[in-house]
Amino acid sequence: MNRALSNHPERALQYGETEGLRELREYVARSSTLSRPVQPENVLIVSGSQQALDLIGRVFLDSCDRIIVENPTYLAALSAWRPFEPEFVPINDSDYGVDSGELKAAISQAPKLLYSVPNFQNPRGVSLNLKHRLQILEMLRDTNTLVVEDDPYRELRFEGEPIPGFLELASEHEETSERVISIGSFSKILAPGLRVGWVIAAEAVIDRMVRAKQSMDLHTSTLNQAVILELLQQNFLPDHLRKIRAAYRERRDVMLSVIAEKSPIEMTTTRPEGGMFLMARLPEHFDGARLLGEAISRGVAFVPGEEFYLSGLGKNELRLNFPTLHRKESAKECGGWPHVSLHKRDVGCAKNAKGIISHKGAQRSQRKLIKNFPFCGLCAPLWLPPHSCVFALFHG
Ligand SMILES: Cc1ncc(COP(=O)(O)O)c(C=O)c1O
Repeated sequence: MNRALSNHPERALQYGETEGLRELREYVARSSTLSRPVQPENVLIVSGSQQALDLIGRVFLDSCDRIIVENPTYLAALSAWRPFEPEFVPINDSDYGVDSGELKAAISQAPKLLYSVPNFQNPRGVSLNLKHRLQILEMLRDTNTLVVEDDPYRELRFEGEPIPGFLELASEHEETSERVISIGSFSKILAPGLRVGWVIAAEAVIDRMVRAKQSMDLHTSTLNQAVILELLQQNFLPDHLRKIRAAYRERRDVMLSVIAEKSPIEMTTTRPEGGMFLMARLPEHFDGARLLGEAISRGVAFVPGEEFYLSGLGKNELRLNFPTLHRKESAKECGGWPHVSLHKRDVGCAKNAKGIISHKGAQRSQRKLIKNFPFCGLCAPLWLPPHSCVFALFHG
């Protein structure tokens, strides 16, 4: 922050261009892996990727427009678009792809948007495989449907090979790349509190979004953009990413092994190769939302899976957040077993816990975490996103 202020004093505290700081847009343009070069004119800096979702709604959606969404999907995308009264068309999501039959039927209804979180999706942590990405683009080729690629977890891959994104794949064909809007964020790789994200899209799309953003907030905080720029110019990111990927991988492994070895009931889980979440499925008769109250009283948290579905599915599923594990401390305090809740001092050692923590509990603990871990190499992994869970496991 100090360096941002001393190196960019005139910009950091002044009004700026709605599009965002030129150097930051250049950085985003340079970092994209498209086959054709991206120009800064194709980039808009936004106040978190959440704002991009809202802008897309304002610019493109009219009442009754159809939006194809993965089912389950990112809850706050639905909330961003609900005010525009669209009709969501959910496509059931298997572990690594979408149902092609359902997709074909949905596309035949001339949807305005197709929304996908292709990498380490929130909530399930799985990624759409290459075959399905290509298939979706192929199916959309002769349509006017826009693809909204929401990709905040892309850089958090700790296992497996990267899969090219929609924009990347579409960039080989002029006509489809014009119709992909790709959204990214510094929230998951640097600091969510700075509220800086970006959009890469065709210039005509960016222009429309710029006009909508102008009337919302004029521009994203120039100070926060300058802080990010400073970190990028100091080359902070590569090392930081290495650290958080390693930490997340270890925490995923701990969570999966504790579930496999200690769960008193049968539980299946997704096995993410990156990102921040996994989804656990309990036997059919369990209801995550009902379990929540009981779990909260024992000091444990998760988000009931049902919240992420559009069709009443997911009652027996729980979205778990593995970056928030604190293995060493927990192992010490909970008799050698990784106690996967937040700090014991915050929420209590949830002996025999079989579940969850409340959002309120999570937020309280988040505040403490933020206090305990000021901006440092590992602050991003310790962040609890909205609706995130803190997950206490089966010990004792
Ligand atoms: C898929 C997805 N999109 C967008 C967001 C919003 O992120 P940001 O902090 O960049 O607004 C999140 C945050 O959890 C997310 O999971």
